[in-house]
Amino acid sequence: MSIKIAILPGDGIGPEIMREAIKVLTFLIETSRLDATLTESPFGASAYFSYGDSFPDVTKDICDDADVILKGPVGLSYEESKKIPVDLQPERAAILPLRQRYDTFANIRPVFLSEQARHFSPLKDSVIPNGIDMILVRELVGGLYFGSKEKGVNASGKRYVSESLEYDEDQVRRILKVAFDIAKDRKGLLHNIHKSNVLLSSVLWNEVLDEIGQEYPEVEVVNMLVDAAATALCLNPAQFDVMVMENMFGDILSDQAGGIVGSLGLMPSACIGESKSYYEPSHGSAPDIAGLNIANPYSMIGSVAMMLEMSFNMTELSSQLWSALHAVIESGNVTRDLSDRVVSGRTVTTEEFGALVISELEMSF
Ligand code: NAD
Ligand code: IPM
Ligand code: MN
Repeated sequence: MSIKIAILPGDGIGPEIMREAIKVLTFLIETSRLDATLTESPFGASAYFSYGDSFPDVTKDICDDADVILKGPVGLSYEESKKIPVDLQPERAAILPLRQRYDTFANIRPVFLSEQARHFSPLKDSVIPNGIDMILVRELVGGLYFGSKEKGVNASGKRYVSESLEYDEDQVRRILKVAFDIAKDRKGLLHNIHKSNVLLSSVLWNEVLDEIGQEYPEVEVVNMLVDAAATALCLNPAQFDVMVMENMFGDILSDQAGGIVGSLGLMPSACIGESKSYYEPSHGSAPDIAGLNIANPYSMIGSVAMMLEMSFNMTELSSQLWSALHAVIESGNVTRDLSDRVVSGRTVTTEEFGALVISELEMSF
């Protein structure tokens, strides 16, 4: 039976980079390498303006019915977002509800730049002689982003807010297990990123980690405070292989990871749940470059590669797609976000990048 893929193009550069991902999927379908049907549905600020809801019922139905969801970034610029009431803005009213609806607790964000492409990093060759290759595992449905919130006026007449960072041990255990399993299959090294010198949530997190660690004697755990980890990511990223952390730490450090590989446009991701998963770039809707055909679709097409492997078990096809993506980057024919660091090659448009990926893929068959 055909795999049902819900396609949520999103806002800003979302539709442009999704178009290239759809071309890749269509190519795989037309060459009989993939048996799938694609159903597009509105999601994000654009959906809010047409339906008054950034995650309308029609999209909920399509996502419920789909085997997997491929999602582009959503959201508006800071100024534009003021046109939507705070509670209805797509980050709060679409992304978080999507994550909650399918309980996609494990966010996997690969951070990769091959040795041949390491000049795209702002880091010196001597810091990353072998390129960059790590996986960031972020808890995605707990913590500060999902804790209870309160806003009002206190007894002394001051406006105040309170939002809490909440985790129970089961939520911590399941994400740590995902991270240990990934670490076990790679180098057997896991960096646990925490803030147990201040936050009680990190104390509980680390307690659970010590318990689970007993089940993984082959995995070496290195505990690192999150503030120090931010520095270490810049000074010596080669020390990391798999990093695991709670929701907000992962949000921030994964964007920093996008910085060390040279562009957020190189950051795909997988949001894995027990029964349904979705795939999206780690970055946002990039309103500053939307509509110009210059965004880097690597993150969106890389999310397809992750989907092929993680949801459909199509390991070989996934690695062929990865190789095609890496070959285009290494050729130096890259979008504008990377082109100031090109050694040889030229600046290509979003569409040209997608076409280059497809021709590399074609050659690999
Ligand atoms: P952003 O990630 O959209 O952009 C940050 C910078 O990275 C910009 O200069 C942008 O041009 C660049 N960039 C990002 N992706 C790129 C790509 N594929 N190719 C080339 N350059 C790229 O962050 P922001 O500007 O802070 O946020 C914009 C909007 O996106 C906000 O509304 C935010 O809430 C939303 N957002 C959504 C998601 C999501 O849908 N998962 C994630 C992050 C931010
Ligand atoms: C991300 C984004 C989202 C997050 C926002 C837009 C809800 O920044 O996926 O990294 O904070 O998780
Ligand atoms: Mn983020």
